[in-house]
Amino acid sequence: MADPVVTGVSRKAPAWSLFVLWLFSAGAMATLPRGHAIASAHPLATEAGRLVIEAGGNAFDAAVAVSAALAVVEPYGSGLGGGGFWLLHRASDRHEVMIDGRERAPAAATADMYLDANGQVINGASIDGVLAAGIPGAPAALVHIAEHYGRLPLAVSLQPAIILARDGFPVDEAYRRMAEWRLAALRASPAAAAQFLVGGDVPPAGHRLRQPDLAKTLEAIASAGMRAFYEGEIARHLVDGVRAHGGIWTLEDLRDYRVVERAPVELRLQGKRLVSASLPSSGGVLLAQMLMMLDARGTAGLGVADRTHLLVEVMRRAYADRARYLGDSDHVHVPLARVLSRGRAQRRAQQIDMARATPSTREALAVGEGQDTSHFSILDREGNRVAATLSVNYPFGSGFVAAGTGVLLNDEMDDFSARPGSANVYGLVGNDANAIAPGKRMLSSMSPTFYEHGDVVTILGTPGGSRIISQVLLGLLDADSGLPLSELVAKGRFHHQYLPDRIDVEPGALDESVLAELQRRGHTIRRLEQPYGNMQAVRWDRRSGAVDAAADPRGIGQAVLFHTEIGRAGSVQGR
Ligand code: DON
Repeated sequence: MADPVVTGVSRKAPAWSLFVLWLFSAGAMATLPRGHAIASAHPLATEAGRLVIEAGGNAFDAAVAVSAALAVVEPYGSGLGGGGFWLLHRASDRHEVMIDGRERAPAAATADMYLDANGQVINGASIDGVLAAGIPGAPAALVHIAEHYGRLPLAVSLQPAIILARDGFPVDEAYRRMAEWRLAALRASPAAAAQFLVGGDVPPAGHRLRQPDLAKTLEAIASAGMRAFYEGEIARHLVDGVRAHGGIWTLEDLRDYRVVERAPVELRLQGKRLVSASLPSSGGVLLAQMLMMLDARGTAGLGVADRTHLLVEVMRRAYADRARYLGDSDHVHVPLARVLSRGRAQRRAQQIDMARATPSTREALAVGEGQDTSHFSILDREGNRVAATLSVNYPFGSGFVAAGTGVLLNDEMDDFSARPGSANVYGLVGNDANAIAPGKRMLSSMSPTFYEHGDVVTILGTPGGSRIISQVLLGLLDADSGLPLSELVAKGRFHHQYLPDRIDVEPGALDESVLAELQRRGHTIRRLEQPYGNMQAVRWDRRSGAVDAAADPRGIGQAVLFHTEIGRAGSVQGR
């Protein structure tokens, strides 16, 4: 992709200020983290990461273990049949990279594949069943991370997930809620029903859910790496299963899948540094834009209504760019230099009218409630960091499992723009930049992020569909104001995404007086009945070495802090 690096003040700053910056930069005199920290959306996934670090692994091995365990215990959120973005920071040389394991459209995909004869979007075609599934990237990403960044063989880092799949785990309420929601899609696939339901119904709480086929697939990856999934017997099962149900995958689609190492989006601004997901995620681009606009206007001293209005207007403008310009830059030209230009951000920020909402100019569109996908954050004692957001898209993805694989396929094709201007399940509109094309990656909102403010490093991210990016923005601003991590992940949220032209507000997030004032300025308010998001965050104070971790109380996740000797070899035992 074109240069994704945005430099802020430092580019124009005189040489002496750079020296002062260096002198005070925590990196120059950092204290190593006093412990390891993991926050993930499921206690058993957090535990998998801990076991692998205790076996001598680093944060990257733990990321493999957590990702694989989530595929087993949180199948509605992410999995081997899905994809994601793993943002890595290697402490030894400060190498930072985004592992792009995003799904790709199969070669037979066409721009109009979800349209009927009249050019109308066919309801549900990109959400339920095999046609909705992109070519998975998660298995390739796990193998890549283990081979290039990890310290342990896959046989060790995948071991906790293999045990969880083989011996089972107790079904929890989050699982039951999601399975209930996607019952029809799961029932439509015999292999999915056999794997995730009991007698065609949602399993009772505490039921031990065993996934022997998934255990075998994980074992095959552990012993033969990427080829085990993308070629040979598992690939044949996947393609046969998909095609038998009317899908368009081929063996070549799987064989040709590759992860891509990409430079993350980086923004330096007033002693702060943002590192976040680059295209084909829109996350980092929008976060950088919004921070630049906020910097141009300044938020210091604003009351809650003014601050909320300003944030909403900034969100509106950034999400408008998402709809207009963003897509997979390996396939379409994205005017990134313009979209990330500091001057343009300043001009747009100055156009914000503090007394009136700027209309988004198009009619409101329906939006679905994003409740799954999965984020985890890891820091090890060497200072290696991982922020990863993974997905199968909608809860339980497409609901389809190819017999004999245990692999639940994603429905990430819905993240493409099925038709210019028509909304996807999150109400997001797009145009040709995000049109479907063979081999193309669909535009994402997943925003795994590192944020450095002075000495304090925050690693964060969340699910939430289109609302991911605005949640991370609010998290960064709370990090700026020094909010304790447990409060940062719990705090009430609000969101604007350009279209539909309205502010979504979590229950209790804003006072009635603030909502009334926003309405007076011309905003439409939608009061949500349910909370959204599931933020998992880790923090490291590089001056003191203090470490903190927090899991969003909206979910069932778990954050742990623990100590081990660094580099101790060993094997992983199941629980
Ligand atoms: O990549 C994306 O932006 C979406 N597939 C993420 C979906 C999501 O977060 C669903 N959960 N709430």
